[in-house]
Amino acid sequence: MKITQIKAYEILASGGYPTVEAEVTLENGVSERASVPYGASAGSHEATVLVDGDKRRYHGKGVTNVIKNIEEKIAPILIGKEVENQRELDQAMIALDGTDNKANLGGNAVLAVSVACARVAARAQNKPLYLYLRDTFNTGVDFSSLPNPMVVVIEGGKHADETTDLQEYCISGISPGGPTENIRKALESYHTLQKILKANGLSTNVGNEGAFAPNGIPSNEAPFTYILEAIEQAGYKPGVDLGISIDAAASEFYADGKYNLKLENRQLIATELIAYYTTWFEKYPIVTVEDMLSEDDWDNWVALKKITDAYKIELIGDDLTVTSVVRLQKAIDLNAISSILIKLNQIGSVTETIDACMLARQHGMMSVPSHRGGGETNDTAMVDLAVAVGGKFIKVGPTRGERVAKYNRLMEIEREVKGPTI
Ligand code: PGA
Ligand code: ZN
Repeated sequence: MKITQIKAYEILASGGYPTVEAEVTLENGVSERASVPYGASAGSHEATVLVDGDKRRYHGKGVTNVIKNIEEKIAPILIGKEVENQRELDQAMIALDGTDNKANLGGNAVLAVSVACARVAARAQNKPLYLYLRDTFNTGVDFSSLPNPMVVVIEGGKHADETTDLQEYCISGISPGGPTENIRKALESYHTLQKILKANGLSTNVGNEGAFAPNGIPSNEAPFTYILEAIEQAGYKPGVDLGISIDAAASEFYADGKYNLKLENRQLIATELIAYYTTWFEKYPIVTVEDMLSEDDWDNWVALKKITDAYKIELIGDDLTVTSVVRLQKAIDLNAISSILIKLNQIGSVTETIDACMLARQHGMMSVPSHRGGGETNDTAMVDLAVAVGGKFIKVGPTRGERVAKYNRLMEIEREVKGPTI
């Protein structure tokens, strides 16, 4: 089925700034749209989020140039091509851009078109997106086990003011019942957590991702005790039904060789920080830890990996690896991580994202597709992608429409794959 038209629109993301939506039409008249998110604590090795820079519109964050790139540069090279050739379409856009980080066209331009192509191709074949992606890229996944929720329940760092230095504390579903059951357990614990935070005199306003951002929290360790209590009070077994995952997003509090824990008034070098983290590994049912060190602090990642391995904790790269096969290969060669966070917009195309997931899979690593903290949309392609590549978790916030859309899509897929779930 050939592509006949590609249009693009400036829409709003959850952060209140614009993002881009692309619409791809086929020769049979069918069209589909896709929109892309942006990060708040984006890694410096990520694909470019191109914005206009015209201060008269949205403080420079308009995307009218991105729309022009789609309609005037990308559309002419893709129109007339077979939409099912996803790899070829993505490669054509990558070649047209000509940079390592999609600086010319914008990663946001390329990704919006890339996902819209996949979505309309899936529709042309009468398949749900996850099935289309699985078959197109021969991922070999049989859907017998679906991704579980990694629900962000407390957030700080760049995602909220006056709270923890670490960016995210999550409740991860680890019981064998499947995503719908794990989502329920995690959300029940999230609501119980609200009562516990209140009882401790903390505010329960929420941050960027819809998780609690408790102003006045005493330390970076305190969330563990509140979350543990919440899981237990909700009636679940920590470490059996639900585990704890954290994302330090440490690049955000790193400068000149020091990690600055502002909340605790301490500046630590990497070995001291790792020693502090290790006290948590001793005490709490932690299943995964992410970006515990800065994005180019490779040697210390390798040192930390030896410790997380000993505690059977998955060490996830996010800003470190930016969904790039090049940086992932380096992390594999150095033995710096055991799992990878996946964000389509970090690399900027469906093909490159799936290549990263497959490289991880070949090396026995789990993939964890994730939402973005800066501005999300209601697009749920990341969930279909997670299912198509056999992702172990999806990391998404607990509340707000653009977040629960992802969990609702995951539960919908579970119903489709397994039949009724409740
Ligand atoms: P971001 O954060 O989307 O704001 O970059 C999410 C994460 O670091 O996982
Ligand atoms: Zn992260």
